[in-house]
Amino acid sequence: MATVFLGTVVHTKSFSEFESFERGFLAVDDAGKIIGVGQDYHAWASSNPAHAKGLTEVQLSDYQFLMPGFVDCHIHAPQFAQVGLGLDMPLLDWLNTYTFPLEAKFSNQQFAQQVYQSVVEATLRCGTTLASYFATNHLESTLTLAREAVRQGQRALVGKVCSNCNSPDFYVETAEESVSATLAFVEGVRELGSPLVMPTITPRFALSCSKELLKSLGDIAKRFDLHIQSHISENLAEIEMVKGIFKTSYAGAYDEAGLLTNKTVMAHGVHLEDDEVALLKVRGCSVAHCPTSNTMLSSGLCDVQRLVSAGVSVGLGTDVSGGNSVSIQDVLLRALDVSKHLDFFKKQNIRGTGVAKAQDFNYDQLKYKQALYLATLGGAKALSLDQVTGNFALGKDFDALLVDVSVVEKPLRKLSVDELVEKFIYTGSDRNIVEVFVAGKRIKQGYQ
Ligand code: GUN
Ligand code: FE
Repeated sequence: MATVFLGTVVHTKSFSEFESFERGFLAVDDAGKIIGVGQDYHAWASSNPAHAKGLTEVQLSDYQFLMPGFVDCHIHAPQFAQVGLGLDMPLLDWLNTYTFPLEAKFSNQQFAQQVYQSVVEATLRCGTTLASYFATNHLESTLTLAREAVRQGQRALVGKVCSNCNSPDFYVETAEESVSATLAFVEGVRELGSPLVMPTITPRFALSCSKELLKSLGDIAKRFDLHIQSHISENLAEIEMVKGIFKTSYAGAYDEAGLLTNKTVMAHGVHLEDDEVALLKVRGCSVAHCPTSNTMLSSGLCDVQRLVSAGVSVGLGTDVSGGNSVSIQDVLLRALDVSKHLDFFKKQNIRGTGVAKAQDFNYDQLKYKQALYLATLGGAKALSLDQVTGNFALGKDFDALLVDVSVVEKPLRKLSVDELVEKFIYTGSDRNIVEVFVAGKRIKQGYQ
């Protein structure tokens, strides 16, 4: 239904540009596209009478605002079954002990259906309007995940995970099986016929794929112009193994297979070397920053400012279940924490060693409005979907959250627009997300 929201509207236009309209408006047409946004609704309505006619007016309260939906650039849907559990080991032990045995169970369709329905419900409830999902090695259940996203109306990239080596016997495929199931999956998603859900090429990580399989996946991505997702430079032990096997850098292993493109998003990048960052930039690849996971799996502190300064697009990822929460709002807060911790660490290090590096003194802590960009438009850009979603530019789909900061606790005084956003971010409760919209369709009516 064509609607105009009257009240506070906020979004970002770039890493450093935040825009807000206090007592502004946002108009959406029947097709779910944004047709008007700004400060003065009456001026807009009188110069666009045809559009304004028939809009249903929705008045926001003083404690409410509209913002773009959250983008989760990296989430393992099957691992929702163990979210918040088993976070006592570093990456490679964690994979072997908990995660591979869990993912192997997705050969069972009933189990897959139950978990995938729940993860889409949970992410939507937390305001994730666009998610880039890893599923498992299994074709059938990965199609189940794609169908669930379509059924519940979430925008999603969905990948059948590929792994043919360095994996346990009970959870491994041959390169041929991996390639044919990937092709069948791409076809299967096309047959769903939804503009919201797309297939994405998903080598699990360089360690679990042979050179030949990586190359075949790079070829498929190129042939069908597909999105690509994987992991890069998450953990020091993992990196040493990759270098030993591929005899090149982690980024080099993917690059040789044609997997670094302007539609590629790589999770983590905690320990990337300078020449790898430069390579990602040249190829137009993005990084999904996953601070909850990097802390839980003791992977390290990722310096997002370094990546952004180098011109690499960055979004945020929950990395469920290495990350302990399905909420991008939680990840956003943790990204702010990690940036502060890095700053403390750099300055303490200087004091401890007496070695002062200019770049350490000049480190700029991430600001909450920058983190909001990473959680919305930055994420959409990282997934190469910023032409469609991520902010409220005219013509984009209306993927949005209606936030009400009075749900959890009513503020004791009226807040400015900046304070409303600040309150929402720093109190960190998804209960303040009262409505969720994808492509103009209301998905959720909130907790109230
Ligand atoms: N690297 C390879 N697989 C995984 C995974 O499932 N989670 C994380 N965090 N890293 C990985
Ligand atoms: Fe991951």
